[in-house]
Amino acid sequence: MVRVVNSMSLWRWLARPGMFLLPPERAHYFGMGTFAWLAKLPGAVSCFRACYGFSDPRLMTRCFGIDFPNPLGLAAGFDKNAQWFNELALLGFGCIEIGSVTGQAQPGNPTPRLFRLPRDQAIINRMGFNNEGASSIAARLERLAPDRSDRNFILGINLGKTKLVPVEQAESDYTESLRALFRYADYFVINVSSPNTPGLRTLQDREPLERLLHAVQSTNREVAKASGQAIKPILLKIAPDLTESQLDEIVDLTLEQDLQGLIATNTTLRRDGLRTPSATIEQIGAGGLSGRPLTQRSCQVVRHVYSRLQGRLPIIGVGGIFDGHDAWRMITHGASLIQLYTGFIYGGPATANRILRHLQQKLDQHRLNHIGDAVGRIDLMT
Ligand code: FNR
Repeated sequence: MVRVVNSMSLWRWLARPGMFLLPPERAHYFGMGTFAWLAKLPGAVSCFRACYGFSDPRLMTRCFGIDFPNPLGLAAGFDKNAQWFNELALLGFGCIEIGSVTGQAQPGNPTPRLFRLPRDQAIINRMGFNNEGASSIAARLERLAPDRSDRNFILGINLGKTKLVPVEQAESDYTESLRALFRYADYFVINVSSPNTPGLRTLQDREPLERLLHAVQSTNREVAKASGQAIKPILLKIAPDLTESQLDEIVDLTLEQDLQGLIATNTTLRRDGLRTPSATIEQIGAGGLSGRPLTQRSCQVVRHVYSRLQGRLPIIGVGGIFDGHDAWRMITHGASLIQLYTGFIYGGPATANRILRHLQQKLDQHRLNHIGDAVGRIDLMT
């Protein structure tokens, strides 16, 4: 405990101010490069595990046929090219979701494309799915990903659409990635909610979404049969900017197409209620906003979707989770699993450990035997 508290102070007073002196994208690669290098030193893995690792059977969560060691995952976008998932898992996350991966390699949008908003504990990004493409990432996973039986975390793969592929041909781009990456994923996510690929969010409309999900599920069954593996759980990741009727339509379609769950939510296009001066916001320009300003909205979306689903599918809640309090709120609003990205940037390497300890305390406080007993129990929120 003392070690984690000390590492929090180190992060807050030393490492984070230093990292925040660098431009955000450079800080990301510098920070992860340093961490990955440290993790290779003799004894480092045991040291990271001792400081940040986490194990408590009460937090183990079974969702869509997969046993998650705990309910907290690292959201998509952090490890786009599957470079660091083994090291990131040392920090206590029960799941790492890599990607978004697209069918073809692409550079993403011109830089600068990543901006911190410290006064709001937020980030604006318009990365535009910069990634090495499905076949190169499959080759890296072949080298780096241990078999499921040899790793203590779950590996999700998030799929996006190549920018150059027209929205009308989106199906073939997603299914190409699915084929290339099939054997490496414990589950897949169809991401139709990033705001930084022109037209992507129109794939959330009923007709194109139905076509896309149908094509993905057909490929899923086909590849599973041909390779003698089980079909993979497929989830859909949605935006926080949808209306209630759009959410209802998506939930119904998800059920019709036999998907295994929903991830709510991606970043928002909204900019209301920010403390950062509006001139700065205007200067930054287009992009998706994540972090603290998203906390309330993503919880609302999770609640709405939870009520509509009536327990038929699990929800992964993501958006504005920074601490144990936010995590508990998301779970009691209906999320069986949770993820974060921005909270990790601001909170540092001990973030997952801190959140999981808080969840343990909440179970004690409410005399619950298992984290699953808290899902959707809004009456337990305090
Ligand atoms: C993201 N996010 C994201 N999501 C996704 O499905 N595919 C992606 O490639 C990315 N890329 C990405 C880059 C950056 C820089 C950020 C900050 C975010 C969205 C992310 O997974 C998450 O849904 C949102 O950021 C909301 O969660 P947080 O950040 O508030 O915890």
